[in-house]
Amino acid sequence: MIKSITGLRATSQVHIGNYFGAISNLDSSYENFLLIANLHSLTDEISQEGLMLLGKLLFSYNGYLYIQSNHPQVTYLSWPLTCDCPVGELLRMTQYKSQKDKQNISAGYLYYPLLMAADILITDASRVVVGVDQKQHIEFARNRAQAFNNKYGYTFTIPEYIESKAPKILNLRSNDKMSKSKGDQNGVIFISDTPDQIQYKIKIAKTDSGLMPIDILNDKRESIKNLCLIFSIVTGKSYNQIEQEYKNTSFSTFKSDLTDALISFTSQLQTQISNISNDMITKRLQENQQQIDAIFDKKIQDFRLKLKI
Ligand code: ADP
Ligand code: TRP
Repeated sequence: MIKSITGLRATSQVHIGNYFGAISNLDSSYENFLLIANLHSLTDEISQEGLMLLGKLLFSYNGYLYIQSNHPQVTYLSWPLTCDCPVGELLRMTQYKSQKDKQNISAGYLYYPLLMAADILITDASRVVVGVDQKQHIEFARNRAQAFNNKYGYTFTIPEYIESKAPKILNLRSNDKMSKSKGDQNGVIFISDTPDQIQYKIKIAKTDSGLMPIDILNDKRESIKNLCLIFSIVTGKSYNQIEQEYKNTSFSTFKSDLTDALISFTSQLQTQISNISNDMITKRLQENQQQIDAIFDKKIQDFRLKLKI
């Protein structure tokens, strides 16, 4: 069976960018590694609540649900990968470059792609399901795997970035990526938002000026294009349908329909989550723990043989 991995940092909230950029692209016909990346959250905060929430969102997919810190094989693997990696490759990472001028920045931001590469390579997954902001980290993992295979003989599957249905959802108040840690949080739709919060956030969402787009794909106005992308994903309507339905109209009817669609989507998801108890997550994690350990131990054994350590 083809192996696929997705990983999300266990911070307290999940927004529609995380959901449509990563989670909803999972496919149960693969052997899925469903990783709750709590060690990656150490540069910010680890949230127990967030950990459970991710567990509930990933629960319905086929595969292994696991928490990064429960499997020390991953951090073990990350050190030899670190020693084999030219520091220049890390310094080139866009995500690091965007943080590096912060005072007393944690070394975790620089080494982060190596831990992520270890997460991926230890599974032998050929598919990695993430938003486009992580694409560079997948390329980095590919390079590291190729370099290791060339030096020590074939050891790691070369992973591939899988293009998402919504690779980059923008913050509704700016044209930056929607993010739970950066930007105006009134421009971020969280899956836990109440109908009133959604109504307010869509009301104040930036739209540029003019009428609804007649050619969404080629429209230069990023803000309204972003709202159309969200509407299309949430309702399942094609761009063509949206163009026809709202031709020559102002933004107000569209915004009202988008609000209704988002409220309906989040309330369904909230119900789905509320039907999964913390005990169900704990049980699934326990069931998958040994399976994951067996897979990881085998990989580490092979890796140690290659390295002669
Ligand atoms: P955040 O940037 O909000 O802190 P994470 O780093 O935890 O989110 O990302 C979890 C997953 O969600 C990753 O696969 C990431 O690529 C994806 N993702 C995050 N933000 C967006 C977005 N705005 N649009 C699409 N995908 C996103
Ligand atoms: N770094 C990813 C993010 O911030 C999360 C992540 C950690 C991940 N390990 C992974 C994603 C392994 C895919 C595979 O979004």
